[in-house]
Amino acid sequence: MRHLLSINDIDKDFAITILDTAHEMARVSEGAVKKLPTLRGKTVVNLFAEDSTRTRISFEAAAKRLSADVINFTAKGSSISKGESLKDTAQTLQALGADAVVIRHPASGAAHQLARGKWISGTVINAGDGTHEHPSQALLDAFTIRKHLRGGKGDLSGVEVAIVGDILHSRVARSNVLLLTKLGAKVTLVAPPTLIPPQAQAWPVTISYDFNSVLPHMDAIIMLRIQQERMSDLYFPSEREYSSLFGIDTERLALTKPHSILMHPGPMNRGLEISAEAADSPQSVVVEQVANGVSIRMAILYLFIAGSQESSNE
Ligand code: NCD
Repeated sequence: MRHLLSINDIDKDFAITILDTAHEMARVSEGAVKKLPTLRGKTVVNLFAEDSTRTRISFEAAAKRLSADVINFTAKGSSISKGESLKDTAQTLQALGADAVVIRHPASGAAHQLARGKWISGTVINAGDGTHEHPSQALLDAFTIRKHLRGGKGDLSGVEVAIVGDILHSRVARSNVLLLTKLGAKVTLVAPPTLIPPQAQAWPVTISYDFNSVLPHMDAIIMLRIQQERMSDLYFPSEREYSSLFGIDTERLALTKPHSILMHPGPMNRGLEISAEAADSPQSVVVEQVANGVSIRMAILYLFIAGSQESSNE
């Protein structure tokens, strides 16, 4: 059984296959009838133990466009962060006949635990586990960058990408570093030293504390949300100082290459890491990222559910 728990689960060729498949899926979404019969009779469970808007509705739309049955299970407030409870939940999902479980969970490693536990026979897809990984977000970001900067084809060699802000708490940053570098992009992390995890020194990236000097060289700029809900300490003196040093606004956008794109996984803290004008500027592709997310998740569900069934029948 194939699971998507981390970007480390996929090699470069398979990542490109996912992007190419998403490209085809986008054509379906643009058509008059937005539906394919591919996953008819399959059940996809969305197990969301943490708040989410985009990712949850995106996986739901993707599963429905492939004709799967969708069960939404929001477990916020329950005690599924305890191993035993996750097992109980998993056994319930197994009894419902889940062919895939899309899991978002506040605990890093929860998706791995669900897959390793062998309590369910279906595919496990990590939709964000704690501060660890969020592979489908990285794939939709790579898809968006490739579409704008590489004509929707091939890899991302030579593309310069900045990932800016709360790297420390960001599963989006971790998955993006793994995927974008795998695809040949050059990644620069920009943040105050307090928001760079110590292990980032060993990642294949450049680290900068000076946003203005980085901006003129970038093709894509990914702004990250300041994750206040995961912050137990003070990581910067004030929001005002953070915005003035690491936020993007129209003045900073003026330092960028004209063809460069501005991205954010959402939800945005307008006025903190991104000004309202920058978020709504012509360089911003934030809304398009959401649409691309549906195509990517259609590709993931298709390749991991229909694809793994084919291989297990061999
Ligand atoms: C991200 C997440 O949940 O990790 N958002 C998302 O999936 N659209 C980023 C964030 O919450 O800041």
